[in-house]
Amino acid sequence: MTIAILTPILPIFHPAPLILHPPFVPSHRQAHPDTGTLRVRITSSVTHCGNNKIQSSHSPRPLRITPRSRHLERDPGQSPAMSSATANGSTASGLKFLIYGRTGWIGGLLGQLCAGSGIPYEYGSGRLENRASLEADLEAVRPTHVFNAAGVTGRPNVDWCETHRVETIRANVAGTLTLADVCRSKGLVLINYATGCIFEYDEKHPEGSGIGFKEEDTPNFIGSFYSKTKAMVEDLLKNYENVCTLRVRMPISSDLSNPRNFITKITRYEKVVNIPNSMTILDELLPISIEMAKRNLTGIFNFTNPGVVSHNEILEMYRDYIDPNFTWKNFTLEEQAKVIVAPRSNNELDTTKLKTEFPELLPIKESLIKYVFEPNKKTSSA
Ligand SMILES: NC(=O)c1ccc[n+]([C@@H]2O[C@H](COP(=O)([O-])OP(=O)(O)OC[C@H]3O[C@@H](n4cnc5c(N)ncnc54)[C@H](OP(=O)(O)O)[C@@H]3O)[C@@H](O)[C@H]2O)c1
Repeated sequence: MTIAILTPILPIFHPAPLILHPPFVPSHRQAHPDTGTLRVRITSSVTHCGNNKIQSSHSPRPLRITPRSRHLERDPGQSPAMSSATANGSTASGLKFLIYGRTGWIGGLLGQLCAGSGIPYEYGSGRLENRASLEADLEAVRPTHVFNAAGVTGRPNVDWCETHRVETIRANVAGTLTLADVCRSKGLVLINYATGCIFEYDEKHPEGSGIGFKEEDTPNFIGSFYSKTKAMVEDLLKNYENVCTLRVRMPISSDLSNPRNFITKITRYEKVVNIPNSMTILDELLPISIEMAKRNLTGIFNFTNPGVVSHNEILEMYRDYIDPNFTWKNFTLEEQAKVIVAPRSNNELDTTKLKTEFPELLPIKESLIKYVFEPNKKTSSA
């Protein structure tokens, strides 16, 4: 089996607005240097939260991706579950995704992306905290990769989690860990949409300094119960070598009518704070997360565009591209604290690791213009 055989079945990676349904193509594959077999292993060391990237190796206890199924496979004897798990993936692309979060924002977009790029996928019907239901999903779907966009985010916002602590733990901690554990037992990579709202600017990472928090930094923001549980589960997930943790922040999409969209939120607030933050342009980054699955990347990734953008800078773009009459009022963090229950995190994440893997990743302000404001442009002046 040579790497050339893979080429026709793997589409080209080229992030584009979600509405365009881009084709995807991995730019990077790991082939065994001698045999051409895609031979990989999940590193067992988790002493730091760097990229536990599955890598080409002759090491003991290897996992393998077969070109046809692109499915992780353990050596005989390591896990009895492996043999059934590798007898799947009989799709033309060799991929089959199982996605959790059908009714959610990110889960819904993921399904659209898969449909648009011809990747077979199904949504999980199980509840995260119910191990038997997850095992039944895996048995029925026989995926090559699992995506977790399920979790409790609170309605209307994360303040809900302050008063629904057990429900939050059940889904975001017990549930996420159960899914990671079930996937591990089947040798499956789990792409887990997590949060970067577990950091706040501090003396070593001051606002405006350009010094962002790295993947290996210990979370320093537990001001809200939501963030606290997300930081806890991220720490525990470091022990799962099959998990790719994506730290999403203040997600933005080109759908400006979606009330979950950060831009939509701040244009509807009566008053907004004005703080630079790392943010995630979903139109650019969700296709990248699919590519990360294809590359079987694991470990923690700061999953934002490089750099920061402030609330006012976004609102200025909104005024310039969408509504020339748009105005807004700012208020201070202290004033904001009076209208919310739990504090919110503000930070910059260091995206060197993601950018090294995906050099084409755009800085946040360029991505905003390319993926959000240009496609929605309503003014002639911008
Ligand atoms: N949106 C953001 O601002 C943001 C920012 C950073 C990170 N994230 C993270 O990204 C992930 C997805 O976010 P999102 O905005 O797409 O969330 P969302 O719109 O609130 O959707 C959450 C999804 O999770 C499902 N769900 C909740 N509890 C579940 C459980 N116990 N078992 C199975 N499914 C369950 C919900 O289905 P049901 O309706 O059936 O319960 C829904 O489909 C979350 O983990 C979130 O923490 C989001």
